[in-house]
Amino acid sequence: VLDLAMADHFRAFADVVERDGGPTYATICRGVADDPPVLSLLDAAPAAQQRPLLLLAAVHFLLLSGDDHPLREFYDTVAAVRGSDDGAKGSQPEGDVARIFSGFCAERRAQLEELIATRTTQTNEIGRCNALLPGLCHVAELHGRKTALSLLDLGTSAGLNLLFDDYFFSYRAPEGISRVAGSESSGVRLRCTVRGGFDGLPDLAPPALVERVGLDLSPVDACSDDDARWLLACQWPDNPERFGRLRAAVENARATARAPRLEQGDMVEDLADVAATMSGEEPLVVFHSWVAAYLDEERQRDLAAAVRALDGTGGRPVHHLYFEAAYETPGLPTPPRSEPGGRGDVATALVLVPAGGGEPVRLADAHPHGRWLRWWPATRPGPKGRPAAPAPPPPLR
Ligand SMILES: C[S@@+](CC[C@H](N)C(=O)[O-])C[C@H]1O[C@@H](n2cnc3c(N)ncnc32)[C@H](O)[C@@H]1O
Repeated sequence: VLDLAMADHFRAFADVVERDGGPTYATICRGVADDPPVLSLLDAAPAAQQRPLLLLAAVHFLLLSGDDHPLREFYDTVAAVRGSDDGAKGSQPEGDVARIFSGFCAERRAQLEELIATRTTQTNEIGRCNALLPGLCHVAELHGRKTALSLLDLGTSAGLNLLFDDYFFSYRAPEGISRVAGSESSGVRLRCTVRGGFDGLPDLAPPALVERVGLDLSPVDACSDDDARWLLACQWPDNPERFGRLRAAVENARATARAPRLEQGDMVEDLADVAATMSGEEPLVVFHSWVAAYLDEERQRDLAAAVRALDGTGGRPVHHLYFEAAYETPGLPTPPRSEPGGRGDVATALVLVPAGGGEPVRLADAHPHGRWLRWWPATRPGPKGRPAAPAPPPPLR
């Protein structure tokens, strides 16, 4: 029997990935939508996890683990991990990928069901550091860069965004002007197009940090081969640049001297307890990216209140910085863009609720994976390190 709702999920997912440059999954998902035995694999998952990416990740995981099935030839990522001399994708593979995928699922059904029953989809997108870095620099400038900061990342996954100062950043405006920041010799190299110019962007030298802590319901251990492979398996096979960047960040996390402390817990319920373990007096930035959508609107309000309640405890300023899709986070304040319109992109808003009861400020909009950034110049801090009064919106262009 065809599960119509699940079939529709696969068709919708095919459209999404196709728009975002994922032809392999688009073709596979359209095939799965008409393939009852493959659709039924997701029956093994808890209801909240029954989504296309879970099945796709389970298959990807087996291929990345060394499975020799011909399906591997369609995955750029598998070739990248295993080298193309083992028959993984080297030249254009032949055959119908959707049919070959279906055959793989039939032959590996038991292994797939076990993965689907026990795993949840996971992302840790370090491209988001392209937005977080200027956000954190902005906070450092609010303090005149006279003090180091501490960071608490909610929904941290593997904590990779807490290691942004290990990465190399290159920001380029369409006019050809560029600025670089971070660790020049880093194997983790991030690129970002700056829309609207550099006006108002803070100095991008990463701020000094005292403590870095991550909190997650299911933290990912970058040092575990199994955890790291699952994280990689949740990516799409057609974007080797993004995949390579994540691999490099995992390698960095294993080698770095500044490994964050990761705590298991709920970002609302356990926030105060975890914050209490961070005992310094330096300003604390509680931040999160693409996490708040996991909370319903009321719990999003609870989260905003819980962070506000930390501000000033023990004399410590606590800032709340978030990079979230406003349409999914109605319970968090998101001021309107300071320039109306837009190019129809699905932007993510970078918002700061400054310590000391300040009003929320929309610092920037950016691509969800940090491919581009639009900094709103009106948010430049005042000359004494205080935020300037909001400037009137620029004229329509
Ligand atoms: C989409 S991932 C984003 C990870 C990371 N912030 C990033 O931008 O790459 C969402 C993460 O939030 C975690 N998460 C979901 N609900 C949570 C909650 N209530 N408390 C803590 N973590 C949660 C998930 O386990 C997952 O690691």
